[in-house]
Amino acid sequence: MPASFVSQRFGQLEYFDRQLGRPAWRGKSVLDFGGNAGNLLRHARGRIAPSRYCAIDVSRDAVAAGRRTYPEATFLFYDRHHPTFNPGGIPELAPPDPGRRFDVVLAFSVFTHLGGDELRQLIPRLASFLVPGGVLAFTFFDPHHRPSPAGPEVNVLGWRLGAIGTPAAVRRHLERRARGARCCAVVDRRRLFRDEEPMPPWVAGRPVPYLTFFTSAYLAELFPGATITADPSGHHCCRLPRGAGGASVTLNPGGEAGMVRP
Ligand SMILES: C[S@@+](CC[C@H](N)C(=O)[O-])C[C@H]1O[C@@H](n2cnc3c(N)ncnc32)[C@H](O)[C@@H]1O
Repeated sequence: MPASFVSQRFGQLEYFDRQLGRPAWRGKSVLDFGGNAGNLLRHARGRIAPSRYCAIDVSRDAVAAGRRTYPEATFLFYDRHHPTFNPGGIPELAPPDPGRRFDVVLAFSVFTHLGGDELRQLIPRLASFLVPGGVLAFTFFDPHHRPSPAGPEVNVLGWRLGAIGTPAAVRRHLERRARGARCCAVVDRRRLFRDEEPMPPWVAGRPVPYLTFFTSAYLAELFPGATITADPSGHHCCRLPRGAGGASVTLNPGGEAGMVRP
C-alpha cells in the first residue's frame, strides 16, 4: 500500500486562537477533524492536554504517526474514500463516533478538499459531537475573495492554483470558468467543475489532487447561524455554535449541495 499523507504544516492552533477570539484553551476538549498526525497539538505548548485531544483522519500513516507521538491522545482512522488522501477507502462512509463530546471541533484545511455533498453530510454530524454551548470551526477557500496572500490582484482561486503548480495559461482559463460560481472544485490541477456540474468517476487507487472552493455567501445560506470571517492567511473561517439548549447545527433545507460526487 503506498504511503499516505503526513502533514508537515504548523500554525493551526494560532489560526483558530485568532479566529475564535483567544479562548481559554486549558481544560478544553478538542476534536481535530482531519487532524492528520496531531500537529495542532504539537504546537499547543501545553494549552491542550493530549488526553483531551482526539483526531479523526482518513490518512492511515498520519493516524499511526499521531498514535506513536501522543499515546495519551486519541487518533481514529476513518476509512472513507478521498481521491487524494485515501483513494482505496469506502465512499460515503459515516464518520466514527468518538464516544465522547467536545468543547471545540476544529477542521483546518479539510473542507478545502471535500465537495459540497460531503460538507452537507459531515458538518451537522460533527456538530452533534459538541457539548451544548460548544463551537465548531472549519476553514474554507472563498474562490473570488481578494486580496489573497499572492497579492491584491490575485483572488484565492488563482493563489491556490499557483500554489499547486497549474500553468499560468491554464490558470487564467480556469479563473474565467469559475467566474460567478458559488462553489467549484479543481481536479488534477487543470480540470474545474463549477456548482452542480457532475464529476467523472474517480480512477480507483490513483491519488488525484482535489481542491474545493465555496463562496462565503453559499456557506452563509447553507448554514444559517454561521459566522464567517476572512483571515490574512487566505483561509476563511466558518464558525458554528451548538445551541445552549443542545440544538444542533441546522442545514438550510433549500440549500443545494454543489459538486455532486459520483
Ligand atoms: C491538507 S491536510 C490538513 C491536515 C491538518 N489539518 C493540518 O493542518 O496539517 C487535509 C487532511 O484532511 C484529511 N481528510 C481528508 N478527507 C477527510 C475526511 N473525509 N475525514 C477526515 N479527514 C479527512 C486528510 O487525510 C488530511 O490529513
